[in-house]
Order: sequence, then C-alpha cells, then structure tokens
Amino acid sequence: MDSERITLLDGKRILLGVTGSIACYKAVDLASKLTQLGVQVDVIMTEAAQQFVTPLTFQAVTGRPVYTSMWTSGGGSLPTHVAHVGLAESADLLIVAPATANTLAKLAHGLADDLLAITALATTAPILISPAMDGHMYASLAVQENLAILQGRGVTLIEPETGRFASGLVGVGRFPETPKLIGAIRHRLGRSGALKGKNLVITAGGTREPLDPVRFITNRSSGKQGYALAQAAADAGAEVMLISAARGLTAPYGVQVIPVESAYQMQQTVLTHQAGADALIMAAAVADFRPRTISDQKIKKTSGNDPLTLHLEKNPDILLSVKERRRDLHRPRVVVGFAAESEDLIAHAREKLERKGLDLLVANDITAKDAGFDVDTNRVVILDARGGQEALELASKAHVAEHIIQRVAQLLGQ
Ligand code: C5P
Repeated sequence: MDSERITLLDGKRILLGVTGSIACYKAVDLASKLTQLGVQVDVIMTEAAQQFVTPLTFQAVTGRPVYTSMWTSGGGSLPTHVAHVGLAESADLLIVAPATANTLAKLAHGLADDLLAITALATTAPILISPAMDGHMYASLAVQENLAILQGRGVTLIEPETGRFASGLVGVGRFPETPKLIGAIRHRLGRSGALKGKNLVITAGGTREPLDPVRFITNRSSGKQGYALAQAAADAGAEVMLISAARGLTAPYGVQVIPVESAYQMQQTVLTHQAGADALIMAAAVADFRPRTISDQKIKKTSGNDPLTLHLEKNPDILLSVKERRRDLHRPRVVVGFAAESEDLIAHAREKLERKGLDLLVANDITAKDAGFDVDTNRVVILDARGGQEALELASKAHVAEHIIQRVAQLLGQ
C-alpha cells in the first residue's frame, strides 16, 4: 500500500486500543501506516500490552502522546477533561487491535476498570474489534458469546485469520495484516457515504481468450484502475461487486469479487447482475476478438516452417448488450465506459459514449507513458452525455477513481 493520503481517512481521529497479545508488535505497523495516511492516531495501551511493546514505540510512530492510565487528564479535543472523556468525544472511530479475550470480556460486560474499557463505554463513535489469540481460546464458548454480545450492539468484528500462532499451534485467531485492518476501518468509516445503499457493479482487468488448454490471448490491462474504483466506491458506502479478469491484485475489504476469464464469461456475469445494479462501471479491457475454435489439446509445433494461422471472431460488446436490456429494465441507472485510444482521443470517445448509450465515458490516451495500462497513475478526460468534457490532471489511479465515483454519486443523486 502506498502512503498517499486517502480522502476518507485524511484528518480523521482514530483511537487505537492495544491490549496484551503478542500481536501488539503488528499494531505498531498499523499505527504507523494510519499516521502516514493522514490519520491522527491516539493510542491507548492496557497494562498487559505494555509488557510486549513500550508506549514510546507508539509515541514515536504516531508523533502523539500515548495513554496508559485512567488517572490522567487531557486527551483528544477536550484537553481539560479526564482522558477518557476527551478521547471518547473526539474520536471518529475506536479500533481495538489486537483485542484479547480479557478485553473482549470487559467490553461485552461493561467493565470500566482501565482507560480502554472506560473509553469504549464513553464513546459514541463506531467500534471495531480485531481479536488475536490462540485457536482454542478464540473458539471457546466464553469468547464466542462475548463476541456475539458485542456484535449485537453494533460493534464490528474483524474476523481473525487462520494460520500458525506464536505458540506453534495452527487455527483461527491470527491477527490480520495491516492492509486488511485499514480496509476494515475504511469500510466502517465509509458506511454513511454518498453511495450508501447503492449497488455498484465494476469490471476490471484484461480478459483472457483461450486458444488451447495452455495458451490465451490477452492485453496489457492490469486491472489497477478497476480495483481503485472498487475501493473508492466502497469508501463511499456502496455495496460493490467486482467482476474481475485481473490477476494478483488484492480485492478491497468488503468488496465481493467474481473472477472471470473470457469476455463471454464477463458478459454473462454482468448481465446476470444488471437488474440489481444502480450503476455499472466497465473499466475492464475486454478483448474485441477471440479464437474461433478452442483446441481441446495443446496445439503442437509442427515440423518444418509452416506458419500457424489463427482465425479470430468478434466478441460480444458487453456495453451494447447492457444498453439493449436497459430499455426494459431501466437499470443500471448509471453506466460508465472507458476508452483507451492511441489517436483522436476525444472524437473516438464521444462517438463511443453515444453508440454505447453511456452516461459517462472515461477516456485515456494510452500513448502517454505515465497514464493508462499497468502504471499507478492516470490522466483522463471524462465526457458526459450532455456534451460536457472534464480533463483531470495526472493523478494516482486512486484519485482518478475517487473523482469518477463522485461523478457517479452525483448522477445517482439526481
Ligand atoms: O469499443 P471499445 O472496446 O473501445 O470500448 C471500450 C469500453 O467498452 C470499455 O468500457 C469496455 O469495458 C467496454 N467493452 C465492452 N465489450 C467489449 C469491448 C469493450 O463492454 N466487447
């Protein structure tokens, strides 16, 4: 993850409650990454946590005082109050990570005998918990019942991972890596965003058109812009389905991914979900052609110098098939297409917007080295159905995605 600021997180105040699990050392990384992303991180440590990591470590990575005792004053935006009130009042979110069985029990039963427990009672901000403990402990009825109580009160559980513990045992209870924790925080903070309650279908990646069991034809699309769009849509509170032909990218937290290979599979999946979508963003680079026949066996290299002739046939145009069904379904309400062009960018893009019946078309010039396929930045022009044209400066794909999502939210709000 790069440390570029994220609009949703920038300037937010997050309370990080750290409790006494060996996974404490990973919470240092979480505190550090959140700080780099522009978050004001106030750390509260339990006494047991301080056996593993010192407050100074968190202070060094957050640049802020670390709170360890409920008998001190100051904290958050109310410096004259006792710490827990100041911290609780000013927080946008409280995440307890790692959360031990002991702290989960305190939170579930309303105990108020340390600064973290008392702050959790005092805050009205959303609470996330990321349990970390040995597998049998995590599976114990006591822990599971406490988790059920907390979830019943609206606390968000970040499911622990399966894997090997410091003890050598294997099971469910491992503390997740930082990107997943930050994903969960984004997902919770975004819940009340501009796309709250909206379903977005987003496609990503370059399709693969098989020739035989081992070969396929594809293109240079990495899927990065599509994944950035999925993250931006989730940040804005949407339910996101990502129909992905991309490889090796991690899906944003809370986003449902449907992997596909070919243009045909992508088309079938898009059409299946068309009626449920408020908006469709076709960021995928769909292959225009596919091999006419797919050989069951690997195509052999013949002796001699005979060339191999491939016969290609046209793939269905997914956006055109969506347009056709949209006449009856009236859904999705908003459809966004992409155009990658190497010449006459705007003229081709305008023609495409009209022919495919789009609300927005995002055009990029693929001849520029810093934009388009595979790189992390993009330079696009957004055309709309009313003849409008908006050129964005060179920016990260994350920022381009945020902007496109804002435009989609505006259209859905009209
Ligand atoms: O016509 P062209 O391929 O340039 O159009 C690009 C846009 O159309 C993209 O949004 C792409 O995802 C979509 N597309 C499609 N079906 C195809 C080819 C492209 O929906 N067969």
